[in-house]
Parts: sequence; C-alpha cells; structure tokens
Amino acid sequence: MIEIIERLSSEGTAAIKAAKNTQDINVVKVKIFGKNGDFTNAMKGLKDVPKEQKPEVGKQFNDVKVMLEGLIVAKEKEFSEVEKQARIKSEFIDVTLPGRECAQGALHPLTLVKNEILDIFTGLGFTVKEGPEIESDEYNFQRLNIPKDHPAREMQDSLYITENFLLRTHTSPVQARTMSDKDVKPPIRIVVPGKVYRNDDDATHSPMFQQIEGLVVDEHITLCDLKGALEVFAQTLFDKTTKVRFRPSYFPFTEPSVEVDVSCSICRGRGCRICKGTGWIEILGAGIVNPAVFDACGIDSKKYSGYAFGIGIERTAMIKYGIPDMRLFFENDTRFIQQYK
Ligand code: PHE
Repeated sequence: MIEIIERLSSEGTAAIKAAKNTQDINVVKVKIFGKNGDFTNAMKGLKDVPKEQKPEVGKQFNDVKVMLEGLIVAKEKEFSEVEKQARIKSEFIDVTLPGRECAQGALHPLTLVKNEILDIFTGLGFTVKEGPEIESDEYNFQRLNIPKDHPAREMQDSLYITENFLLRTHTSPVQARTMSDKDVKPPIRIVVPGKVYRNDDDATHSPMFQQIEGLVVDEHITLCDLKGALEVFAQTLFDKTTKVRFRPSYFPFTEPSVEVDVSCSICRGRGCRICKGTGWIEILGAGIVNPAVFDACGIDSKKYSGYAFGIGIERTAMIKYGIPDMRLFFENDTRFIQQYK
C-alpha cells in the first residue's frame, strides 16, 4: 500500500507539473481524482488494510491528497492568470483610435434650394400645394388658355401617355386645379413645387426638371405686387443687393407676361461667364393671370385679378451655386452632391 501511495504521489506530481494549460490540468484532475481516477481507485484498497494500520495508511492517503490538490490549485491559479493576460492582449481595444466615420446622408442640393424657396414664400403668407405628375390635357393646356392646336403648345414639347394624358410640362396645371376647386375661394396664395417633363436634353435642359409655381388671386392685384414679391424672393435667396428686372414676354395664361431676370450674383452685374457677359440672368416666367383662365376655372374675372410665376429650381440652383451643367444634379456622384450639405 505504501508503495502505491508513493507512486500516486510521484506520478501525480509529475503529471501536474507537465500540464501546460487549464485544459491539461482538468484532464490530470480527472485522471487522479475522477470517479475512475488513480487516487479514487487506490482508496478502494483501504478496506483491505488490516485494522491497526488503517489510521496510518489513511493519514498517508490524506497527506498525498492534500499535497496534490495544493499543486493543482496552484497550477490552476497560474494558468488562469496567464490565460487572462493573453486574452486581454488579444482582445485589446485602443479606445484612443479615431472612430470610423459613418456615411451620413444629406439633402440633395436641389432639395435644399427648393426648401429655401418654399421657406421664403411661406414667410410671405403662401401655402404649399402639390398636384399630379400625370396630368390631363384639360388642366395642362386647355384651362390655361392653350386650346388644342394652339401654336403655344410647341413651346413645351410634350411626353404623352395617351391622347388626353401626358407627363405635365409645367406646374401651372395646379393653378387651374386650385382655381377650379369649388371649395377654394379667393384670396388664393399658393406655391407649388414639383417635377415636370419635356422632350429636351442638353447641358441646360433635362427631360425631367423641377419648378415652383406661384399663384396669387385677390382683388386689385397688379404687376407691382408681383415685382415686390419677386424682389423679396431674389434678395433673400441670392443677396440683398440683387436687382430684379421684367422683360416683356408671352405665355397664353398670363397677360401681360414677363420674363424675370435677376442681376448676376456671381459678378454683381459686371458681366461674367455665368451671365454670358450681360450682368443679368433669366430665372423665371410670370405675369398677370389672363382673365380667360379665370373664366375657364370659374373665378369671377370682373372682381378678381392675380399674378402667377414659374421658377425653375435647377436653373436657380445653378445660379446660386455657379454650377455649369444641369446633368451634374442627376448623375448621383456623391463627390458632387456632398459639397452642398
Ligand atoms: N408655366 C410656364 C413655363 O413652364 C412658366 C410660367 C408660370 C409663366 C406662371 C407664367 C406664369 O414655362
């Protein structure tokens, strides 16, 4: 028995010393003290030891047990510390590293300009309204005093869906829709942002572009009101020194009609590439609502007068930011778009 205990002691000690990590120690532990372990099995022999020797042999078993357990606990401690340090090293996070920037979306420059224009007009008491992009011939043309076969239809080369429906060529049909609405009575003061479509495509024309329509209907509205509102608009959007000038023009739905120029905010009127040396840039069409439109839409043309305008958002954004080619807006190159956050 003494021999067995000595072997338990020496072999156990050697096995514990040979362990290289927590996993090895667990294996050794089972090998010695497990249900079928060397120590456990050897203990079974205790019952055959003569009674007088039992206390002595029992004590030796116990001494070896305490000794081996002590070694195991010491090894366990050692390994758990080493392994903890290794984990700390491998899972190290440098909290002082600069973070990775997450890509954040931003509003498209056209949306920024549109919002800015709407802000200016809502500040003047206008309400924002919208209308459909697929429009009937009736609203897109007829109620705006452009009858079938009228030569003015050629000013807006159009994309038809059926004989009587087309992609709207301007936001003006929303004027007609609003005035024709039985629930809407003057005074009317609306701005209408939206996409419009024409069969056009080059550096300064896109088949899809955006407008903001304006319509005011009340008693005693004159060109002076129009000019005052557009001056506030231009001086807020560009800068305080911006001048506005009217040139005579023609639209079937306004009479008189004007093209509106603003003094070039790039060269301040001295003449540059953007204004083609003239010092002025055309930004919108406008005029006094033609009484024929009131008649077609059920508004009393004897009592009321009004003005209307149509601003091109792309054009305005090109002038505001000095962008030479309209197609840049639609190419979705984030290097371009991100400059206008
Ligand atoms: N609808 C016209 C266009 O797209 C612009 C305009 C609007 C002119 C309102 C006068 C009044 O060309």
